Amino acid sequence: MRKPLIAGNWKMHGSLPQVDTLVQGITQGAKADPKIDILVLPTFIHLAQVHALLSHSPVMLGAQNLYLGQQGAFTGEVSGTMLKEVGCQFVLIGHSERRHLFHEDLALVAAKFKAALEAGLKPILCIGETQQEREQNQTETVIRSQLESVIQFAGISALQQAVIAYEPVWAIGTGLTATPEQAQTVHATIRGLIAQNNVDLADTIRILYGGSMKAENAASLLAMPDIDGGLIGGASLNAASFLAICSAAEASL
Ligand code: 13P
Repeated sequence: MRKPLIAGNWKMHGSLPQVDTLVQGITQGAKADPKIDILVLPTFIHLAQVHALLSHSPVMLGAQNLYLGQQGAFTGEVSGTMLKEVGCQFVLIGHSERRHLFHEDLALVAAKFKAALEAGLKPILCIGETQQEREQNQTETVIRSQLESVIQFAGISALQQAVIAYEPVWAIGTGLTATPEQAQTVHATIRGLIAQNNVDLADTIRILYGGSMKAENAASLLAMPDIDGGLIGGASLNAASFLAICSAAEASL
């Protein structure tokens, strides 16, 4: 049985007071002993503040990105070691906004994935196709290359500590959501690709859905057999809507 994970990717949002309000709303509303894993991913600048606010809460902390190595002359970057030191357990790797807006290629994403593990962080590897790739029936090809580049570089056993997030680029921040059936098809494909390397791992690894997931559609997506949680953008910026998605995940058990 895979434990659902609901993760809030706050992207470049939040001020000090807003973050305070949001975390307090989440911690006050979250159960003391939830049957699911709950994770928030604030900006780098808010990590220490959120870590302090989460000190007596089961809600976990993660970051949205990292750079390779422990330290060095890399102006503007933050290492996995630094993230670990401020209380992060997880880190997003290869989010589509990193791939598309910041031109992170397959090799860099694979290197970042490995760097996360070396720092003792659990990578959440984000994969997904663009609208054009879907229209050209390239979804499986894209997913396969995004997954295989990491497996080839880091080894299949590296996925043991990882979570996969399927985020169709056309559904991110657009209000368009993959239907539960569309999402399930790709999730099953991802699990199948992993099973070609390691059947047990394919059975245990969590595959999250991301792309306009919200309180209204969470239950139907989470009811799918291969959807093990959500990576939520916009709807994670409001405590009530984020908690409603967490409740939907608990109800799906
Ligand atoms: P939205 O939920 O805003 O579509 O964002 C999804 C996402 O990119 C989460 O990482």
